[in-house]
Order: sequence, then C-alpha cells, then structure tokens
Amino acid sequence: MKIAVFNGSPRKGNTSAMVQAFREGAEAAGHQVEEYQVGRMKIAGCMGCEYCHTKGQGSCIQKDDFEKILPAYKEADMVVFASPVYYFTVTAQMEAAIQRVYCIGKPAKAQKAALLLTSGSPGVYDAATEQFTSYMRYAGIQVAGIITSNGAENGSEAKLNEIREFAKTL
Ligand SMILES: Cc1cc2nc3c(=O)[nH]c(=O)nc-3n(C[C@H](O)[C@H](O)[C@H](O)COP(=O)(O)O)c2cc1C
Repeated sequence: MKIAVFNGSPRKGNTSAMVQAFREGAEAAGHQVEEYQVGRMKIAGCMGCEYCHTKGQGSCIQKDDFEKILPAYKEADMVVFASPVYYFTVTAQMEAAIQRVYCIGKPAKAQKAALLLTSGSPGVYDAATEQFTSYMRYAGIQVAGIITSNGAENGSEAKLNEIREFAKTL
C-alpha cells in the first residue's frame, strides 16, 4: 500500500519518533511510506468561500503549502494522522490541513486510516479521537488503529515497538 503520514508536530520530537517506528513496521511489511511535515508548513485555515465547489472544481483558491500535501492525500491507499496533543486536540497546523480537505471532501482512494497521538498527560485524547473516528466514518474509511503515548511512554522502546508491530499488521 501507498501510505501517507501527516505529521502535525512543528518539531522533531515524540511525534517524529512514533512516525519513524510506524515507518519501520510498515516498510518491513512491504508498504511504501511517505511523511509530510504538516506541522512545519504554512497552511492557512479554510475561508469557506466555496470556490472549490464552484469555479475551482476541487481546487482551493488559497495558494500555500496545502498544495504540497493534497496530491498525497488524494493518492494514498492509507492515511495516517500523527500529532502531539495541544490543548486537548491536534495542533493548529494539523487542524488547518484537515479542514482544507473540504475542497475534495474526502480522499478518493484511501481504504484505511490510523491516528498516532502523543501528549504530556494521560486521558487527553477524547476530542482528537472523536474528530478522527467521525471524519473517517463520514469518509467511509476503516480506522485500522489509534495509538496514544503520554509521559514516560513517549520515546520508550515498548511504545515504539507497539507501533512497529501495529504497522506490520496492515
Ligand atoms: C502548545 C502546547 C500545548 C500542549 N497541550 C497539551 C495538553 O493539552 N495535554 C497534554 O497532555 N499535553 C500537552 N502538551 C504537551 C505535548 O503534547 C507533548 O509534550 C508531546 O509529546 C509533544 O510532542 P512533540 O515532541 O512531537 O512535539 C502541549 C504542548 C504544547 C507545546
């Protein structure tokens, strides 16, 4: 499978370690993994102008880094969202990218999705997981897994191994 991973962290830290472990497992199972550093991109929020659904025919009127990730989102067989928890949800950069997908509604090809979340504290995942599962249900995409990591779990071999093993099962 062609797997596109969207990393919402603005820095190389716990999320990147989770993505790396995911890549190792998925590649060991023969999949192709491409990571997109959404957290470091300049992606503005959707303006709700409806250009995409009228004259634009699926293209967004805003020209920014969203253009770098949309083709991957359209082409992937599986999409993975990876993000730190910032104030009980994914990062603002990640949120902007998710909402800009409004121009195509949902990914055309993806059959599967997964969510990787890291945080300082436990029990802070309700908003991000609810958004993710609702969106994937709406898009008709199977949620293959949601893995969370907090506090001392972050960067631990046990957690990274859990992610590798999960990715090998895809
Ligand atoms: C702006 C900001 C907001 C955060 N909000 C939360 C939060 O609401 N709950 C929590 O448990 N951790 C919170 N954290 C901690 C991060 O989720 C945690 O350190 C995470 O592992 C960082 O991932 P990274 O190393 O990939 O950036 C916050 C960190 C930042 C910088």
